[in-house]
Formats: sequence, C-alpha cells, structure tokens
Amino acid sequence: MPTTSRRHLILTLTLGAAATLANAEMKPADVTAARALFANNGCANCHEMNGKADGPAMRDIAKRYKGKKINAELARRIREGSAGRWGDNESHPPQGVLEPSEARLLADWVLRGAP
Ligand code: HEC
Repeated sequence: MPTTSRRHLILTLTLGAAATLANAEMKPADVTAARALFANNGCANCHEMNGKADGPAMRDIAKRYKGKKINAELARRIREGSAGRWGDNESHPPQGVLEPSEARLLADWVLRGAP
C-alpha cells in the first residue's frame, strides 16, 4: 500500500474514533443520576428542557455548545456560577453543594441535549 493512502486510512480511523467518543451515549445509569441531580438541586426552578425560563433551556445550551469540548469548563460554571452569556441580567448562582464529579455529570448530560 502506498504510504499516502495508508496515512489517509489511519487518519480516517483516528478521526472516526474521536468523533464516536465525543458523541458517545451516556450509560443509562448516568442519565438517571443526572436527571436526579437536576431534579433534586433546584435546577428545574430556573431551567426547562425546551423552553426559556429564568435560565436558558437545556436543549438550547446543548445547541450552542454542540461540537465544542467545553465539558470541564461548563461543569466549573455550573458549580461556581455563570452570568452574562445569555443576554439578560439573570445569573446562574453557584451550586457549591454539588461535588465536582456531580457537576461534571450534569455538564456531560446537558451537552448531550439532556436525554
Ligand atoms: C436561580 C435560577 C437558577 C438555578 C437554580 C440554576 N440555574 Fe443554571 N442558569 C440560570 C441562568 C439565569 C443562566 C444564564 C446565565 C447567563 O446569562 O450567563 C443559567 C445558565 C446555566 C448553564 C449555561 C452556562 C453557560 O456557560 O452557558 C447551565 C449549563 C446551567 N445553567 C445548568 C444548571 C444546573 C445543572 C442547575 C442545577 C444544579 C442550574 N443551572 C440551576 C439560572 C439558574
């Protein structure tokens, strides 16, 4: 096999694997855990799945960050608070009661469209 096409093949396989990883579905247990965290930590007081409430819809957040590797940053914002990104004066208050791992689970879930 000529080197160039072999390289092409390897590149294609690598990119394919990376794309699969980024879009990988969450384990059902993780989805259940994320939903419970959302329901039990007051998120639903300010966020809906599809429509805007005080805060942006979960699915709009997923759309805005689609394809971006922002999981860790979003987890940090969920935990430490966030403001000025959604065009109104409301802010997302710090959720210090969440463990970093819980905030990360919520971020992963939100970025997958809150299944
Ligand atoms: C008191 C209302 C309130 C509560 C409670 C709340 N949020 Fe928010 N959230 C907001 C508002 C308002 C924004 C938009 C802030 C802005 O304009 O940047 C927001 C933004 C966000 C964002 C997007 C941040 C970004 O960088 O774009 C995520 C993700 C999020 N919230 C998740 C959550 C989760 C998960 C919970 C529960 C643990 C939660 N929120 C609880 C009001 C709230």
